[in-house]
Formats: sequence, C-alpha cells, structure tokens
Amino acid sequence: MPRITVKVDDITYEEDVEPRTLLVHFLRDRLGKTGTPIGCDTSNCGSCTVLMDGRSVKSCSVLAVQADESEIVTIEGLASDGNWHPMQRAFHEEHALQCGYCTPGMILAAIDLLNDDPDPSDEAIRQGLEGNLCRCTGYCNIVRAVRRGAEEMGVTSR
Ligand code: FES
Ligand code: FES
Repeated sequence: MPRITVKVDDITYEEDVEPRTLLVHFLRDRLGKTGTPIGCDTSNCGSCTVLMDGRSVKSCSVLAVQADESEIVTIEGLASDGNWHPMQRAFHEEHALQCGYCTPGMILAAIDLLNDDPDPSDEAIRQGLEGNLCRCTGYCNIVRAVRRGAEEMGVTSR
C-alpha cells in the first residue's frame, strides 16, 4: 500500500492508504474529520469541499494518494485560538445555513473564491459557488454572507 504524508488542519499524518481510497473517505474514516460531509455520489453537490494547498477541491473526486505532500484544510481547521474564521462568522451572522449540510463546503469554496476575486459582485459569488448546492435553497443569505465575509476579511470595500 502506498504511504502518504499529508498535513491536515495543521497536523501532519503519515498513513498507508489503498490507491483507490478517496480523500473524503480518508478524512472522515481514517482521521475522523466528519465535519466534511458526503452529500452525493456524483461529484455534484460540493458538500465535501476542502482546501488543498489553498485551492478548493471536492474531496470525493480526489484520491488520497493525490494529496501526498499537500496541505489540507477542512472546516474543522478554520477557527484559530477559539475564534471562528471571518467567513464562518459571516455565515452565522447572515443566517446563511438551515440544515447546515452544505455549509462546510460553501465556506471553504467561498474562501477560495476570494483568492481569485477579492471584491466579488453578487453575480461573481453565485458563479463562483455554482459547484456547491444547497438543498435548503438558502442562496440569497449565502451570497450576503460571502460578501460580508469578504468585508470582514478586509479584502473588499463593497
Ligand atoms: S459528496 Fe463530493 S460533490 Fe457531493
Ligand atoms: S443549509 Fe441545508 S443544504 Fe444548505
């Protein structure tokens, strides 16, 4: 079995994995990172989104072996010193979640969106998050939250 070295939420792991193991299963089943949910089996919903070397990926469409030597951030690693990440706070304050199933993926995809477009219009936010589905259809509040998150991160004046 291949051995991978991967940093997840600031902890480095060395693990043997089967070549067919998906990253999302590695995170959930091996590392106990159940904050990363599985919402589909077609790579459509985006609920499994994590950051891999700073870019959002659907962890159900990445093999664990492909994460070798990379740094992964899940929703469980976003807060620091007991303080929520500004994007987490914005989702909370704008009531951008109902059941919460899509929320980890939405937040991580939103953070990556700001890497490319630090001052996104509402239209750009909608396009940037089109790979993430909310079954509760709370999209208006999600867009508001991303805008607020961007403001709180100090990267936009909109
Ligand atoms: S569980 Fe990965 S896209 Fe749906
Ligand atoms: S809040 Fe329920 S799926 Fe988005």
